[in-house]
Amino acid sequence: MSGLTEKWNETYFNGRLSPAVLSQLATLEQSARHPEVRAFLERAFCHMQRARFPATAFTVELATQFGHVVQMVQDAWQGTVPPFTLEGRHHKLDNYLESHPWFQANPSGTFLDVGCGFPPLTTVATAGRFPNWQVIGIDPALPHYLVQEEHGDYALFDENGALQYFQGGHGRALAVWRDPVSAREHFTDLWRHWRPQLAAGSPEAAASVGNGRVRLVQNPVRHYERSNLVFRHGRIGALALPASHVIRCFNVLFYFDGPFRQQALAWFASLLVDGGLALCGVNGFHSTRCRYTVYRQQGADLVETEFAFSLDNVRPLGGISWSAFHDDDEEVSRLAALVGVIRSNASFQHDFDARLDVLLTEAGLFHYGHDGYLREMPTAMTPSEREKHQYDIGEQLDQEGYTTAAVAVLQQAGHQAWRNSAGHIAVRI
Ligand SMILES: C[S@@+](CC[C@H](N)C(=O)[O-])C[C@H]1O[C@@H](n2cnc3c(N)ncnc32)[C@H](O)[C@@H]1O
Repeated sequence: MSGLTEKWNETYFNGRLSPAVLSQLATLEQSARHPEVRAFLERAFCHMQRARFPATAFTVELATQFGHVVQMVQDAWQGTVPPFTLEGRHHKLDNYLESHPWFQANPSGTFLDVGCGFPPLTTVATAGRFPNWQVIGIDPALPHYLVQEEHGDYALFDENGALQYFQGGHGRALAVWRDPVSAREHFTDLWRHWRPQLAAGSPEAAASVGNGRVRLVQNPVRHYERSNLVFRHGRIGALALPASHVIRCFNVLFYFDGPFRQQALAWFASLLVDGGLALCGVNGFHSTRCRYTVYRQQGADLVETEFAFSLDNVRPLGGISWSAFHDDDEEVSRLAALVGVIRSNASFQHDFDARLDVLLTEAGLFHYGHDGYLREMPTAMTPSEREKHQYDIGEQLDQEGYTTAAVAVLQQAGHQAWRNSAGHIAVRI
């Protein structure tokens, strides 16, 4: 282990990380020679420290995840924002809206999903859930072509045949990223083979060609459109859109710096009707690893009304809770500060950690070794099955009253806090 890993350990974890975690972190040192990667890792560790994250719960898997983020940012995504999304990801945000008095008072309206990603699964789900609402998904990287293989791996291309993104299918999202160069070549070869076989016609039309193993689809987003759902190609600030009642912008702004966020919010303010809502933040699988700000349009001003986060952030198993691409990411800073307040209540922290540990072990996910460090249990579960178990554990803890107890800790510390209608810990900003 070299000086950098040791420095991280001493600076952010009181020198208490396990030897196995230190070895894993040492594998990131080469990448951390790049200043942006080093800043990214140190920012995350700093947030963990602020959130009083226990060194004994820093697992090898967490260190590995930080490595994946670094590798994905550097090698595969080449600095662009991935269109990655997940089915059911924003279900709880839709619950939040459904029970919001203003939303209930407006049985129909326009809903913008900004940076909807592809495939636009969350936008489709929202349009299905609110059939009286007109939903518009916007994204600057809606693909012109999709190449998909029978086992689900796929790649997206622009109109000139430049590969934009590729991903493993069926819960194997990371599989093809491990060898990004050959994956790019493979998909590009497939595009070159099938593109000439697409019937000549309007480039705006939906069309497809292929055999049982491979499919090339032109304008694949058209297949998702419905009577109350359309997609528009464009970026924040650069599209003419109708007056809107709700704007959702998730897993987009955290890639950008504070000034970009301010520009985005000013654009949202120019689109929202008086009283309209904007929800911006980060959301993981089924609203785990979730943090967001709720804004309300009041006259000409877009006013912050609430910051909320899911209970699992109190001691998350993944690194996204603490990941920030920029120093001025206010939402991660707020999250770390509030979790730090919650975790500094010794009685809550003891009860929460103990119950979480029991549930993790019962689910066959993690247990403590003789050395006192949390470690992954041997398992044949797929990553998606593990995610589902983690989601279930969060639901169980919520039902057992831990969200309400965390809210009480924040209230005792002087925050105006409550459990919001998505079941998240919310504070007035
Ligand atoms: C990670 S995806 C988020 C998908 C979906 N909103 C979700 O939460 O699952 C981020 C998307 O933001 C889009 N994006 C990047 N820059 C943008 C911009 N300036 N305006 C709007 N969308 C942008 C990307 O093209 C990408 O599809």
